[in-house]
Amino acid sequence: MVSLLIFSLLATPHIIGSVLASDSPLNAANSSSIEWGPCDPSVITNPTLTCSFFQIPLDYHDSSVGHARLALAKVNATGDRLGTVFFNPGGPGVSGLDFLNTLSEFFTSVTGGLYDVVSWDPRGVGSLTTPGEIFCFDSPDEYNTFWNGTIELTGIEMTGNFSDPDDVQALLAQAPIMQEKYDELARRCLRHPSGKFFRYLGTAATARDIVALADALDGPGSPVNFIGASYGSVLGMWLINMFPERVGRVIIDGIIDPTLLATGETPAIWAFHELADADKAYEGFLTGCALAGPQGCPIASAEGQTAADIDATIQALLKQAHDAARRSVFVPVTSEIIREGLLSVLESPTQAADFVNMTWPMLVAGVQAESGSDSLTARREMRSARRRARRDGINQQNQTPSYSAQVMLCGDSVDLRGTRVSEVFEIIIAASRNTSEMFSVAWPAQFYTCPFWPVRAVERYQGPFNKTLANKVMVISNTHTSVSEPSQCLNEVMRAYFVNGTLPEDNRTLCEVDTDFDIFPGVNTEAILTAMSASGDDV
Ligand SMILES: *[C@@H]1O[C@H](CO)[C@@H](O)[C@H](O)[C@H]1NC(C)=O
Ligand SMILES: *[C@@H]1O[C@H](CO)[C@@H](O)[C@H](O)[C@H]1NC(C)=O
Ligand SMILES: *[C@@H]1O[C@H](CO)[C@@H](O)[C@H](O)[C@H]1NC(C)=O
Ligand SMILES: *[C@@H]1O[C@H](CO)[C@@H](O)[C@H](O)[C@H]1NC(C)=O
Ligand SMILES: *[C@@H]1O[C@H](CO)[C@@H](O)[C@H](O)[C@H]1NC(C)=O
Ligand SMILES: *[C@@H]1O[C@H](CO)[C@@H](O)[C@H](O)[C@H]1NC(C)=O
Ligand SMILES: *[C@@H]1O[C@H](CO)[C@@H](O)[C@H](O)[C@H]1NC(C)=O
Ligand SMILES: *[C@@H]1O[C@H](CO)[C@@H](O)[C@H](O)[C@H]1NC(C)=O
Ligand SMILES: *[C@@H]1O[C@H](CO)[C@@H](O)[C@H](O)[C@H]1NC(C)=O
Repeated sequence: MVSLLIFSLLATPHIIGSVLASDSPLNAANSSSIEWGPCDPSVITNPTLTCSFFQIPLDYHDSSVGHARLALAKVNATGDRLGTVFFNPGGPGVSGLDFLNTLSEFFTSVTGGLYDVVSWDPRGVGSLTTPGEIFCFDSPDEYNTFWNGTIELTGIEMTGNFSDPDDVQALLAQAPIMQEKYDELARRCLRHPSGKFFRYLGTAATARDIVALADALDGPGSPVNFIGASYGSVLGMWLINMFPERVGRVIIDGIIDPTLLATGETPAIWAFHELADADKAYEGFLTGCALAGPQGCPIASAEGQTAADIDATIQALLKQAHDAARRSVFVPVTSEIIREGLLSVLESPTQAADFVNMTWPMLVAGVQAESGSDSLTARREMRSARRRARRDGINQQNQTPSYSAQVMLCGDSVDLRGTRVSEVFEIIIAASRNTSEMFSVAWPAQFYTCPFWPVRAVERYQGPFNKTLANKVMVISNTHTSVSEPSQCLNEVMRAYFVNGTLPEDNRTLCEVDTDFDIFPGVNTEAILTAMSASGDDV
């Protein structure tokens, strides 16, 4: 759950001689130089940034399709400039402009001030890049009416590990209804004006965009420097394997196995791989809450409660929400909403105190109210809390939900059209019994619905992922599930790499999370791990 493991991939300098067909960005736009100027104040408020646009072909293999335009932002190098570092925050579908707007000082720091740091809203993202954000509905009302009364809005109800056969029956009974909905959604999305762009918004095209940008900013053939986090690590792995001879200084963080994504089946990737440690992380949360006690973690109702007591409190609320939702789906808080809130805390432990102080009482009140408005308000709040937790910006509470992430994630995934909704439900039931009892049920996780998405990208990179690279890249990962916790040690390792090209001497370095970072008041990561190993847990 916590320690950060850094190691460097094997790389032999300058061994790449021949350039394969896939190794050139093809028709890279280098017709006009990039002129930096003021930023659009509706998107960028940070005065240290300058902005521009960059034209690229929609399809690098077919210039007749036309062009796209990327919105760029840059934070200038403060010292003797060595080049440009490109940053992608992942998602897929997260705005690079938002991230750079917020985190410019962090990037200047970890790059030693020696690079311009450039980020951008990738194809299919935001309001300034064209094609930008993808929508299949024109308003929140249209979206809510389309999905009204379905598990798309309420989530799936179950307790334990689908312990009650009635819950299994109820889920399977939803399959034909959802099958019809997803078929209709596919037709609706394709009919939408943005539908014609779906096939051009894949990760391979975005990797080519980065190379085209490097050609324009640092000169043709220049080394490409890149930082990618989370899904940005997938983009990074596509980039370094599609263009191994162009690899400059590259850091990928929060690794997703690229071979799974290139060749695996999306529902199983999520259910059996991505959630593999989720229940263990949940135990860490319970342990921290128990250590903090009722003062620091109000889910604990009395001094001296154990992790098991706190779990019992949470399971009781889940059961109550479940029972109410089985009577009527129009309840304010379903058990799925509670699970979603908990999962977002595990993904982003910095949110734990807010969750237990503010969100938890709201969930309890919502379950007890059991009637009134439908579940949409609470769910939307949870969704936006989750988006905030992932630091991907804007509160979209009253905005029409975007389908950008589906376009990219599903467009890059193996084409499983023909898979039935009932088959995905069977995977969820299996995963709740052998992988994550708490979180396998999360619906609608994008990975679960990709088989029903109608379009795949014109170019999908499917490996190999073991190319010999022109420079060593740095891989940052954590020893358990995804976390984002501060680590000064890690920042210094990153800075040494960008400034001096130095990598940890033994190719592997373990950085601990900062000890002054508390997950709950007075409870840091180390305390939680110590308590978990004392109780015999394998951490
Ligand atoms: C375009 O290519 C030329 C040489 O081919 C190079 O000097 C220049 O830096 C490149 N970038 C731009 C934006 O013109
Ligand atoms: C960044 O550098 C450019 C020149 O490349 C300059 O025009 C711009 O004013 C600088 N931006 C800031 C905020 O200093
Ligand atoms: C959803 O359906 C319920 C019950 O049929 C109805 O009362 C409600 O107005 C509908 N909501 C939307 C947004 O269509
Ligand atoms: C949560 O409440 C506790 C106890 O009142 C307090 O110490 C802590 O600062 C609060 N945390 C947040 C994030 O509000
Ligand atoms: C479900 O969980 C219960 C209680 O933990 C366990 O006894 C049972 O074996 C599990 N069922 C399956 C099918 O794994
Ligand atoms: C869980 O069950 C699925 C489906 O039967 C299987 O593919 C997967 O390997 C199992 N995972 C574990 C950890 O047992
Ligand atoms: C690289 O991966 C491919 C399969 O993806 C494999 O066939 C090949 O042997 C690997 N090469 C090396 C040097 O490991
Ligand atoms: C880079 O190397 C120099 C010379 O060894 C050293 O003084 C400096 O601290 C290093 N910078 C970083 C950020 O590691
Ligand atoms: C680190 O990796 C390099 C190859 O990239 C190898 O030559 C070196 O021996 C490794 N060092 C250690 C300590 O494993």
